[in-house]
Amino acid sequence: MKPNSPPRILLTGANGFIGKRLLYRLDAMGYSVRCMVRSPEKLNLAFPLENEPEVVAGDLLDPASLKNALHGIDTAYYLVHSMGGKNLRERKAFEERDRVAARNFVNAADQSGLSRLIYLGGLGEATDNISPHLSSRQEVGKILASGNAAATILRAAVIIGAGGAGFEIMRYLVERLPVMLCPKWIYTQSQPIAVENVLDYLAGCLKTPETTGATFDIGGPEVLSYADLMRKYARVRGLKRYIIGVPFFNMILSTYWVALITPVPSGIVFPLAEGLRTPAVCREKRIIDLVPLQLVDMEQAICNALAEEENGPGQLISQQACFLSE
Ligand SMILES: NC(=O)c1ccc[n+]([C@@H]2O[C@H](COP(=O)([O-])OP(=O)(O)OC[C@H]3O[C@@H](n4cnc5c(N)ncnc54)[C@H](OP(=O)(O)O)[C@@H]3O)[C@@H](O)[C@H]2O)c1
Repeated sequence: MKPNSPPRILLTGANGFIGKRLLYRLDAMGYSVRCMVRSPEKLNLAFPLENEPEVVAGDLLDPASLKNALHGIDTAYYLVHSMGGKNLRERKAFEERDRVAARNFVNAADQSGLSRLIYLGGLGEATDNISPHLSSRQEVGKILASGNAAATILRAAVIIGAGGAGFEIMRYLVERLPVMLCPKWIYTQSQPIAVENVLDYLAGCLKTPETTGATFDIGGPEVLSYADLMRKYARVRGLKRYIIGVPFFNMILSTYWVALITPVPSGIVFPLAEGLRTPAVCREKRIIDLVPLQLVDMEQAICNALAEEENGPGQLISQQACFLSE
């Protein structure tokens, strides 16, 4: 990269919940972005960008496809996970896929001379007996950091925004069930973050050289249990809900039940539900000084997400979707 010239950016996962939003954010900041997606025809952009993005087909499980995607790129965002599917017999397959995907990416990045990489993974400490999903997110971070590119690793708990898997599970459950019997893990502490703030951090790191080659916990302004988060959702929507944690729960049966009630497939519900037992709270706060921003509180984040569900992406937020009283 020439001195002072803007970095050439590769966005993996550009069709995902975070990736697509980050594309609009980077575009608004004036960057030109190359999107890597498995199926270019599926990249559906709800409203136009300032600069037409370059779109390349690339699959992290197909090493040959990565050479083209990384050619001439200085900085890459890694916003990919492999959870999914409806068959719970396959529920552990994502760990190996994510391992292979990260290794393929590091090999291709080393060959192409990538200098910087920014990855968004999950909060949770190995010492807390973390779930396979969270453990896999940490492993991917380690693999990505083992390459020649300097890796910035951001770790987040559940992200509150329209279309996010965790948020959608909560939305459908609270909207549809007046009484909820949940595993006792709903009392685990977590530090959810608004999707707007995740974008602030992802984009902010690009402009903050001090964040290069380091790991940061990112979180919203409140530490609260999942039960409290669901109660906040109910309050925002003006709904009366009873949320009760019970000691005995069959994970497989409840996963199928949640997948029935919500649009999220069981291959995502199961690993996320297993992760609820792990506290997901920021253990360090260095990012707050390095990338200063206004943190959005959870009721406002829920309200923003509901307004987007109602009005469509990128539309001005109306308060009509919410029943917040001052
Ligand atoms: N959502 C949250 O609440 C949350 C919380 C904490 C951390 N995170 C982290 O944020 C990152 C992005 O998550 P997200 O919520 O945006 O997920 P998402 O909406 O499910 O998007 C995942 C993306 O990964 C892509 N992908 C999967 N396998 C791929 C492969 N083999 N090759 C290329 N691309 C592949 C998918 O592409 P296709 O479009 O082709 O399927 C999709 O665009 C992940 O690292 C996740 O751990 C998310």
